[in-house]
Amino acid sequence: MTSIDPSRRPDRNLALELVRVTEAAALASSRLIGRGDKEAADQAAVDAMRHVLDGVRMDGLVVIGEGEKDEAPMLYNGEQIGDGSPPEVEIAVDPLEGTRLTALGYPGAITVIALAERGALFNPGPVTYMEKLVGGPAIADLLDLDRPFSETLALVAERKGVEIRDVMVVCLDRPRHEERIQEIRDAGARVRLIMDGDVAASLLAVTDGNRVDLLWGVGGTPEGVISAAAIKCLGGEILGRLVPRTDQERTGALAEGYDLDKVLATDDLVKGDDVFFSATGVTDGDVLEGVRYLGNGVATTESLVMRTRSGTVRRVHARHDRSKLRELIGGDVERFG
Ligand code: FBP
Repeated sequence: MTSIDPSRRPDRNLALELVRVTEAAALASSRLIGRGDKEAADQAAVDAMRHVLDGVRMDGLVVIGEGEKDEAPMLYNGEQIGDGSPPEVEIAVDPLEGTRLTALGYPGAITVIALAERGALFNPGPVTYMEKLVGGPAIADLLDLDRPFSETLALVAERKGVEIRDVMVVCLDRPRHEERIQEIRDAGARVRLIMDGDVAASLLAVTDGNRVDLLWGVGGTPEGVISAAAIKCLGGEILGRLVPRTDQERTGALAEGYDLDKVLATDDLVKGDDVFFSATGVTDGDVLEGVRYLGNGVATTESLVMRTRSGTVRRVHARHDRSKLRELIGGDVERFG
């Protein structure tokens, strides 16, 4: 693990400021739930997140953002965020995880941000996808990307004192997962398929309650790093391995020195022990309630706000006055009205 110079550590709990960021993004994008326009939902989240981030006292650098500068006018990789005063931090954002979920009104969309010391976050480089296996603290040591999956399921069942048929694995519903899904079913375990959102599903897999025991699947590499930030705060483990989609990705990654066989653990994806994380529900989900509109211009949000160094995990239920929010966000008043 790379050591981080202690003098550069943030001394305040930035997560308490980040919750305003994910709340604003959730409130903005929630106006577009079920409106069938995922780009607009994402844009609303990006605009709101960027706007509130500007007011945070930090010298922030976006390392996992909306993409390269030429295709993302805001929250692009390399963008400087905050007022420039210490601490120096790196930022990973997924302003709206579940753009399609939001556009179609499906459960599980969240807004999310993670922040860590400079040099702490794994650089996804040119490889878009990563194989991921996630489990909670009780089974963290049993995770293995190379062992036959049926054996891992048996070990998980044994450790949890349940039968294999009780074990639940959450997977993104993708054709590339068909073989593994069949393998899980053949072993007698259960599968919960999700349309999108493997950060929210990773949170579920490491959260108490045993509704889901494992997450497995090939999903976004940036989402893998963001999930690792959350898992550092909540406990549990994520294992990841880069999966190039094309020859170009493979060649690019090898040229940049990535080891495509390496299994990356939570501490490889997010180094150090000063990680801040905030996520807010947009649509209702297993881990977070979505935005509610109560009438009289009032909306509520639920967020998960965490920091590794203190180990504090907060659930923040907030009540928002939408007319004041409009002042806060500015810009397209109709969208937030
Ligand atoms: P959006 O952020 O674009 O809504 O997508 C979320 C997501 O489902 C992630 O949770 C997941 O890691 C990734 O997309 C999977 O990618 P793909 O849709 O290409 O399989």
